[in-house]
Amino acid sequence: MAPLVDPFARPISYLRVSVTDRCDFRCTYCMAEHMQFLPKKDLLTLEELDRLCSAFVRMGVEKLRITGGEPLVRRDILTFFRAMSRHLDSGALKELTLTTNGSQLARFAADLAACGVRRVNVSLDTLDEGKFAQVTRWGRLPQVLDGIRAATAAGLKVKINAVALKGFNEDELFRLVDWCGAEGHDLTFIEVMPMGDMGEETRLDQYWPLRELRERLAERFTLIDLAERTGGPARYVRLAESGQKIGFITPLTHNFCESCNRVRLTCTGELYMCLGQEDMADLRAPLRASPEDGVVEAAIRAAIARKPKGHDFDYSRQRVAGQMSRHMSHTGG
Ligand code: GTP
Ligand code: 5AD
Ligand code: SF4
Repeated sequence: MAPLVDPFARPISYLRVSVTDRCDFRCTYCMAEHMQFLPKKDLLTLEELDRLCSAFVRMGVEKLRITGGEPLVRRDILTFFRAMSRHLDSGALKELTLTTNGSQLARFAADLAACGVRRVNVSLDTLDEGKFAQVTRWGRLPQVLDGIRAATAAGLKVKINAVALKGFNEDELFRLVDWCGAEGHDLTFIEVMPMGDMGEETRLDQYWPLRELRERLAERFTLIDLAERTGGPARYVRLAESGQKIGFITPLTHNFCESCNRVRLTCTGELYMCLGQEDMADLRAPLRASPEDGVVEAAIRAAIARKPKGHDFDYSRQRVAGQMSRHMSHTGG
């Protein structure tokens, strides 16, 4: 079958699937404290998610990342991972992975590894227990650290994702770097994006450009740029002194949309062609319209043909532009 290519000649080989909009945390930059979640009846069943993901795999998707909300709070989620692992076995899929807050990893790590998961990305912005409780509102740091240990013990490679937050984890830059070095985790920093209904002032106050973070890092370490890519948006450096790998995801200071290879499926079957645009295509209706996959495959192709060039996030001139009204948890980051 012809692979998916968008109007800007970018091959689409990476699908991010949000399997639930729910989460056991309420990170301040991601969700409101009192979120209205979708009624369960609106969710795609695991069988429907399987049909959709399998269609994407037939059309050339090689990397599948399961996200949420928090993917590990979806009931029976292991059934879905087990089902997707058949695409690893067939060789069609190169990577099956997930992005998680880590709270449930102690319970799931071994089973995930058995499904062929090799790496997990865990969101962790601070190593201070009080600050962790503050930024996640409901999270407990020791539980997440236990989860990370369980993942490592199960043989999973852990990448820590830290959102760079001015006045919040600025003072923890070297603590995070040193801890990841000691534990053997890769570490990636992310610029905070204008998602959800948070006030404009708060977002600008929080914004810590990674250009500045990089300069701070270079005061203590020699940074060697790496050509290495994981298929995601991060650009990596190696710290010469410690040998560890640090990634930067910079939607604001350095737009990486020209090499975008991904689309996002929500738990209700909406396909977002870009994280930073409102346009989406409903795949649930074509999926339910016919047991034949031709209908949904045509809908996927039509959607990819509308993939926009990129996002319009911009904080220059001291104002927020390109803001998305939907929360990050809706499309899974
Ligand atoms: P690796 O496989 O480790 O490279 O993962 P990844 O970076 O693709 O996935 P991860 O879930 O760790 O992504 C980290 C964050 O990068 C996401 O949560 C988003 O915040 C951001 N990100 C990923 N893709 C895009 C994108 O297309 N546009 C923008 N603006 N941000 C993105
Ligand atoms: N800006 C940048 N990253 C965000 N994440 C959630 N909300 C935002 C935001 N507004 C990150 C989380 C997690 C990933 C899924 O998305 O920290 O690592
Ligand atoms: Fe949950 Fe992740 Fe959003 Fe935090 S960033 S509220 S852990 S989905």
